Amino acid sequence: MLQIGALASGSGTNVQAIWDAIQAGRIPRAILACVISERAEAPVLQKARSWGVPAEVLRKKDFPSSTSFDSALIEKLKNYGVELVVLAGFLSILGKSVLAAFPQRILNIHPSLLPTFRGLYGIKIHQLVISEGIKVTGATVHFVTEEVDGGPIVLQKAVSVREDDTPEILQERVKREAEWVILPEAIRLFASGKLKLEGKRVRIQEVNEL
Ligand code: GRF
Repeated sequence: MLQIGALASGSGTNVQAIWDAIQAGRIPRAILACVISERAEAPVLQKARSWGVPAEVLRKKDFPSSTSFDSALIEKLKNYGVELVVLAGFLSILGKSVLAAFPQRILNIHPSLLPTFRGLYGIKIHQLVISEGIKVTGATVHFVTEEVDGGPIVLQKAVSVREDDTPEILQERVKREAEWVILPEAIRLFASGKLKLEGKRVRIQEVNEL
């Protein structure tokens, strides 16, 4: 069984999508081993606890340095036996030692069609989509590397922008139509050994219609 560690500091709808997919048998051979959040008040923690999944708070500001925060994070993930780390709204950029501890084993969900809006996050992206008059946006799952939002792309899904969209409505639709679809799907592919990295390109050995 692939042990998944989710790092999330927000409402946790993407973690919920992972949980639902596992419960529904859509990600065979995977377990949500733990959820780690940087915000004690993050709703994702309550969600995880209600499922019986260990949920912990780890805040950079409680550590004397980024390095010691990274070491504590690695230790926690290793203690839970985590083999795949999934970032779903984690606020900090992971340090080099975390990347080295989980080589090609960290996925992130980003609410745009990367490389567009690389380095941005949250509602800002959807505000820009609307103010720039962009007609198609979406979401991307990618491997995490030292390049912020620049790692190999695993899956993307497009979402049409409507004339009456507000940033909030668009954010919600991008989650529902794209993020909650491609994140569990990317994990399924990873868990079944169907993702192969060739340089920066991810080869998928089988794809379902998204
Ligand atoms: C999502 O938009 C995700 O793409 C980004 O952070 C947000 C987390 O949302 N990385 P939620 O907490 O899963 O609802």
